[in-house]
Amino acid sequence: MRQSTEWAPARVHHVADLSPTVREITLRPEHGTPAWQPGSHLRVQVRLPAAEAGAPERLDTRHYSLVNMPGEGLWRIAVKRTEPSRGGSRFMAALQVGDVLLVQGPDNHFALPAGPAPTLLVAGGIGITPLLGMARALAERGEPPRLLYAARTAAEFVYADELRALLGDRLVTHASDQRQRIDLAREITQLPPHAQLLVCGPLPLMQAAQQAWAAAGRPPEALRFETFGASGERPAQAFRVKLPRHRLELDVPPQLSLLQVLQDHGVEVLSDCRRGECGLCALDVLAVEAGQIDHRDVFFDAEQRRAGRQLCACVSRVAGEGATVVIDSAWRPDTLAA
Ligand code: FES
Repeated sequence: MRQSTEWAPARVHHVADLSPTVREITLRPEHGTPAWQPGSHLRVQVRLPAAEAGAPERLDTRHYSLVNMPGEGLWRIAVKRTEPSRGGSRFMAALQVGDVLLVQGPDNHFALPAGPAPTLLVAGGIGITPLLGMARALAERGEPPRLLYAARTAAEFVYADELRALLGDRLVTHASDQRQRIDLAREITQLPPHAQLLVCGPLPLMQAAQQAWAAAGRPPEALRFETFGASGERPAQAFRVKLPRHRLELDVPPQLSLLQVLQDHGVEVLSDCRRGECGLCALDVLAVEAGQIDHRDVFFDAEQRRAGRQLCACVSRVAGEGATVVIDSAWRPDTLAA
């Protein structure tokens, strides 16, 4: 789907806490709300603290699913406050009624397939947001899905009342502080052969779903997911990157991605989703001199992640004492090629 690239102002109309860590923000766009489909998201411009003292504030983009239906002239998004934050969730948490944001979209990279098929939805935490509209749409067309919804505590099940009313016992919640876990292998085994699985949540959940789906011999095209730039197994920390071909050594601070640092220093790297889904930003890893790659993408499969020959620069990092990675980019500057 073509992505809109024009920033447009939208004013904060209402804010409401849905849980101890999730806030719903209602926006009134100044130029109306074009129609959208379930799974659509907005791209919101956020202001991040400067990378170093004396440097200017940085602008970055965050993606948020629309949780309401078209027709109200409003957009509703739900934002999770994350700790530690790279700055985006802190910026969003500080918004007040009347503030103006710059927004692009809505766009949809996670559309609900049109044809009828038994559907299993799996949500982890704030990953419920794109699946909420899908549950509504499927219920409306007479195909209510089974929805497995995991969160840390019962207090974190946002939109659960609406989902319960919509899906009844097809909604199954799993609170991890109650030691309740989604048994993906069992759930997938029970699906009919032509079923589809749509997943949104933290990286380990999506990677587990990928693995269980493949292990069950299900067709890859019947599994869809959305990441929103998932966080990794370890907290983001600073690391060093060496690019021998470019004769560069750079530091990547915790609040910036490798992709941002490379682009800031004139190293061209292709990118599209910036969420670890498309693989366009994948770079060759020549060596990991210290630490380990913290793969945060869903583009590579488990075997490729283990082999560590490439990493997705938009999301993946290196973690550990003195973490240093040596990479090669596909781009060859003329001066070096000569
Ligand atoms: S830009 Fe898509 S995976 Fe990095």
